[in-house]
Amino acid sequence: MRSLLALLFLALTAPIALSAPLIQNVAARKTTSLNGPWHIIIDPLETGLGAKWYLNRKPKDKSDLVEYDFDASETLNVPGDWNTQKEKLFFYEGPIWYERAFTYSKHDHTRVFAYFGAVNYRARVYLNGEPLGEHEGGFTPFDFEITQQLHDGENFIVVEANNQRRQDAIPALRTDWWNYGGITRDVTLIETPETFIRDYWIQLAKGSRNQIDGWVQLDGEHSAQQPVSIDIPDAGIKTAATTDAEGRATFHVSAKLQLWSPKNPKLYDVRISSGADTLRDAIGFRTIETRGSQILLNGEPIFLRGIALHEEAPMRGGRAYTEQDAETLLHWARELDCNFVRLAHYPHNEYEIRLADRMGLLVWSEIPVYWDIDWTNPQTLANARSQLQEMIARDHNRAAIILWSLSNETPVKPERLTFLRELSEDTRRTDPTRLVTSALNSAESDGPDRHILKDPLGEYLDVLGLNQYYGWYQGRLEDTDRQQWTIAYDKPLIISEFGAGAPFGRHGEEAARWTEEYQASLFTRQLAAVSKIPQLAGITPWVLMDFRSARRPLPGIQDFFNRKGLLSPTGQKKQAFFVLQKYYQEKESQPPSKP
Ligand code: GCU
Repeated sequence: MRSLLALLFLALTAPIALSAPLIQNVAARKTTSLNGPWHIIIDPLETGLGAKWYLNRKPKDKSDLVEYDFDASETLNVPGDWNTQKEKLFFYEGPIWYERAFTYSKHDHTRVFAYFGAVNYRARVYLNGEPLGEHEGGFTPFDFEITQQLHDGENFIVVEANNQRRQDAIPALRTDWWNYGGITRDVTLIETPETFIRDYWIQLAKGSRNQIDGWVQLDGEHSAQQPVSIDIPDAGIKTAATTDAEGRATFHVSAKLQLWSPKNPKLYDVRISSGADTLRDAIGFRTIETRGSQILLNGEPIFLRGIALHEEAPMRGGRAYTEQDAETLLHWARELDCNFVRLAHYPHNEYEIRLADRMGLLVWSEIPVYWDIDWTNPQTLANARSQLQEMIARDHNRAAIILWSLSNETPVKPERLTFLRELSEDTRRTDPTRLVTSALNSAESDGPDRHILKDPLGEYLDVLGLNQYYGWYQGRLEDTDRQQWTIAYDKPLIISEFGAGAPFGRHGEEAARWTEEYQASLFTRQLAAVSKIPQLAGITPWVLMDFRSARRPLPGIQDFFNRKGLLSPTGQKKQAFFVLQKYYQEKESQPPSKP
């Protein structure tokens, strides 16, 4: 009882701890990349912090004792996980200290920020020996202002990256994906005017197809009472507003727009200007809502032909981070005839989201509240809330994203409900225009071959996700197609996971596990069964491509890969790929269901 009260009190009072308000749309700004080789010191005994390695000290003279030397140390590429870069780090979990020197010429009347796309899991960042700050969460961006600490000339930046798993962290101790550690996404220096456009929100108003509602947030001494203009030339929109005392300008403008959709992923060139700062972005406009058990895109019912995927690099393995990785993964999804992807179980890199915007792929984005976590720990809640805010902050102008997912396969218990209800309210407060979901796995038996989903969390969701593994973890393959699910809510349902494991090229009779034939048969039977669910509004089978997991040691079959992919790690298509592709092609050619 005490901890629930503490949780309630914290939920009501705790500020959301962000490293610094996130800078929107980094790619459109004046930047310097710090990608490349960084020196590293592996620190299994956590010596570096106490020994102040962030000072990057050199012996003053021959008697001075300094027991580390970044310049003489080995390197790792940034971005990139360390596990697949060095054999000795394949299973490594703990801190590694990164250092790189760089030259910078400072300009008057400018500010400079260091922006990290992601560091797994916890990062401590220092510039020229001075602490900039910390960040927790392995899949969301963060930035620090470095204007004061930055030298005009030689600089060195040090990052302690620590992927140690903890029960009170998000995710907690157990996951079914590889705990790739390191500076896993781009590191960028951003130069801005003294007062600059830090963030903006430019989307259609909730439920409107011809009213753009938005705001522009300035940052700097002269951010109050400043003129801001927003131009969308292709839509004939030219509007202006003035910032309030907090540097925020809000605007509402009628608009006659081509709406963004998978068939027509129209992105408008949007220009935001204020003072010395001008930004351009490519933004799509669409509405997303539910009506009963239907999902409506731009007012029309849509069936989400999806696939779930991890942010695993195709071909080379490891954490994906390049534009090319995104191209390969999302074009495989398109080849399946998907119009939707579930990016599991954490926010994926911005390249994937912006590519989905361009390709017309709808997106489910999720924070890694995964399986059982420390539900009553106030720090854990604050951490989840901050990851949620960072996820929304980076991608809130992306038309592709329609669903924010709060969690995956979490146990039904009161403290979990309290925790996730808070996150659902946070999400609606921050973004009232998108749908809230979670992947549930709490369907209960409701008699022979019958299952019922009545998870209390459903109350707080717009769309229900259901993970069920009938024919693999539960029941027999041959019984799969006669399974029936009852959903205790008049809400849209997405079957967010089903699947079976089979390494590419392993063949045998249909009933033999680990064969492509078994996997293909399971897909056929599952698709037949779930298609009977009246509330079914979408499917994202598990999973696009085999991915590494330390939970999967079976020699000669898994070898530390989860083999439920429809593609091998090098893109070889398994039989089930074509089963799902055929199902989606038929689904796409069917007339849209009646409203
Ligand atoms: C779970 C889980 C996935 C996992 C999958 C599996 O449902 O959500 O992360 O990989 O099952 O067991 O393959």
